[in-house]
Amino acid sequence: MRLTYLGHSCFLVETAKARLILDPFLNDNPTAKIKAKDVKCDFILVSHGHEDHSGDALEIAKQCDATIVANYEITEYFAAKGAKKTHGMNPGGAHTFPFGRVKLTIAHHTSSVEAGLKPVYLGVPCGMLIQADGKAIYHAGDTALFMDMQLIGRVGLDAAMIPIGDNFTMGPEDAVTALDFLKPKLAIPIHYNTWPIIAQDGPAFAAQAAKSGHTVRALKAGETIEL
Ligand code: NI
Ligand code: MN
Repeated sequence: MRLTYLGHSCFLVETAKARLILDPFLNDNPTAKIKAKDVKCDFILVSHGHEDHSGDALEIAKQCDATIVANYEITEYFAAKGAKKTHGMNPGGAHTFPFGRVKLTIAHHTSSVEAGLKPVYLGVPCGMLIQADGKAIYHAGDTALFMDMQLIGRVGLDAAMIPIGDNFTMGPEDAVTALDFLKPKLAIPIHYNTWPIIAQDGPAFAAQAAKSGHTVRALKAGETIEL
């Protein structure tokens, strides 16, 4: 399984049978090296409604004829906007796709689009547990720290993508505790340095987590790793 970090919380995941994009946010992402039009994928996984996670889902779904996988309200929202292929789920539910298994997990956050006077609320925010090619990876989405991360970690995680930006999500201190709960072989910090409000030091976080026995790689946008 190959993971390419595309900036903010966005990843391309290449499995033996399919290419997945997680939390597509490229066109308005100041750290991204590519645009939505450059993406080729089969599935689009969206953790919650906020545009910094869902912003390019519709464009990519249309250009790639890809399936949007997310909570039920998000998939219905995109179906109403013209997405042809969607698969709605909800926290605790898993489904086996041609490439592997996806389980949505809880996350403590909010989930809306078109914020302003009339925001559209799109169900509850989720994390995403993906099992394919004998590997298990967990993308936490946007979330606060929560004790039930211990349950998510029981599956034996090869990689965990966890937010460290603070303000909207966990900050670095809580993210180290999250790793104590998740116990992944590798952790990748996300949702930081995209804007000044979520400025954090990735290598400093990695060094702090290492003191608790965790292996962290702060990837640069565009960087690919093999699990
Ligand atoms: Ni969010
Ligand atoms: Mn976010």
